[in-house]
Amino acid sequence: MLDEKMKEQLITTAIEQLAFSYTPYSGFKVGAALLAKNGTVYTGCNIENAGYTPTNCAERTAFFKAVSEGVRGFEAICVVGGKDGVLTEYAPPCGVCRQVMMEFCKPDEFQVILAVSTEKYDVFTLRELLPLGFGPGNLE
Ligand code: THU
Repeated sequence: MLDEKMKEQLITTAIEQLAFSYTPYSGFKVGAALLAKNGTVYTGCNIENAGYTPTNCAERTAFFKAVSEGVRGFEAICVVGGKDGVLTEYAPPCGVCRQVMMEFCKPDEFQVILAVSTEKYDVFTLRELLPLGFGPGNLE
């Protein structure tokens, strides 16, 4: 289970990633902090592209950094975002990012923290965000 201190650390780290977000087209900045089961926190920001579709979301940046280093077990992710990096409401993960979470995370265990600040946040399970998700188990 995530304690308060870890939730605060993930929120603070996700907010710090907004500074690296590359968004010349939408101006919508997103930051993520992904807690692996081994205790390491992988960070991510969104990275846009003039071709638009190659854009990578903050969540997937964090996941792909971790997986590319051999890490596949995850506990939680915090996601923050807003226009010009101003946080006024939650920035829920897009469908593609939810599907990437589904590949590596247990739907009833993996926690998604949506935050505006360390004082204002809510925690959801992946199952809540992606009911009836299609995952590796469906191909067994
Ligand atoms: N974005 C993310 O980084 N994560 C999401 O889950 C939703 C969308 C980014 C992609 C793009 O750079 C900007 O937000 C606007 O869609």
